[in-house]
Amino acid sequence: MRTPTDSVIAISGGASGIGLATARLLAEEGNRIAVLDLDGGKSEAAAASLPGEGHLGVATDVTSTESVTAAFDAIRARHGRLDGIVAAAGIVDPSPSATVTDQSLQRLIDIHLMGAIRMARGAYPLLSESGGGSIVCLSSMGARLGVAERLGYNVAKTGVEGMVRTLAVEWVPAGIRVNAVAPAWVKTPAIAGLIDSGFLDPEPVESRTPLGRFADPEEIGQVIAFLLSPASSYVTGQSVTVDGGMTIHFPLPKAERQPA
Ligand SMILES: NC(=O)c1ccc[n+]([C@@H]2O[C@H](COP(=O)([O-])OP(=O)(O)OC[C@H]3O[C@@H](n4cnc5c(N)ncnc54)[C@H](O)[C@@H]3O)[C@@H](O)[C@H]2O)c1
Repeated sequence: MRTPTDSVIAISGGASGIGLATARLLAEEGNRIAVLDLDGGKSEAAAASLPGEGHLGVATDVTSTESVTAAFDAIRARHGRLDGIVAAAGIVDPSPSATVTDQSLQRLIDIHLMGAIRMARGAYPLLSESGGGSIVCLSSMGARLGVAERLGYNVAKTGVEGMVRTLAVEWVPAGIRVNAVAPAWVKTPAIAGLIDSGFLDPEPVESRTPLGRFADPEEIGQVIAFLLSPASSYVTGQSVTVDGGMTIHFPLPKAERQPA
């Protein structure tokens, strides 16, 4: 058991992909999950699909401080406590950096960076009153590597890692640990759809990745669950890379593999 059962955990972006997979893992361990996602119906349906009881689905837009505050008010009214959050809401919107619009850049930064900040700030009062807790934000390989046509996304994820370090130091007195998880390629429904429709060729990803495949969302969820749990009690301010070795891999050119 990695998490104390009966913890209350809020997950933004919890109706899909990594957020939903994490919600399932945590619910299987007996925790109560608040699924915070854009669409109220989808959030409620995701909460209802989780094993166990006491789950909650709340329509939440992480680009709105009012909406995030209302979500934590709903959690307070239902449970009166909070033990952890996962900031997993996100979108992708690739565009060449020379021509990307201000609107697209601002939206990416608003959802990924400001959204994570709003989630952390919104959770702070209830986490502190509950005696502390753990915050886990989704970063990405985009915070480490130059991934073309992802300017807003990469800047936002780099900002998330700076936010994590800042809050980790500042919120120690409240008993709150703050970390990030940085995946590379994860087979979420959106990515699987891109592959199936021929927009994304999986081969270069698989050959660049030493483990030779995309991650399953549950493999990211397992690391998030560890960071939420007391098993990671001495880990704070970190961004944990979960990428099958992709970012440490230097693919050796064929000609250099054998001595002449
Ligand atoms: N899938 C990957 O390969 C990958 C890799 C690295 C990082 N990540 C990060 O992991 C997180 C989850 O990604 P995913 O692949 O599971 O995506 P996903 O599309 O499956 O899920 C994202 C969820 O966020 C929700 N969302 C979007 N905008 C929102 C808003 N304004 N307010 C509230 N909810 C909102 C969506 O409705 C959706 O349910 C994202 O932050 C993403 O950047 C994903």
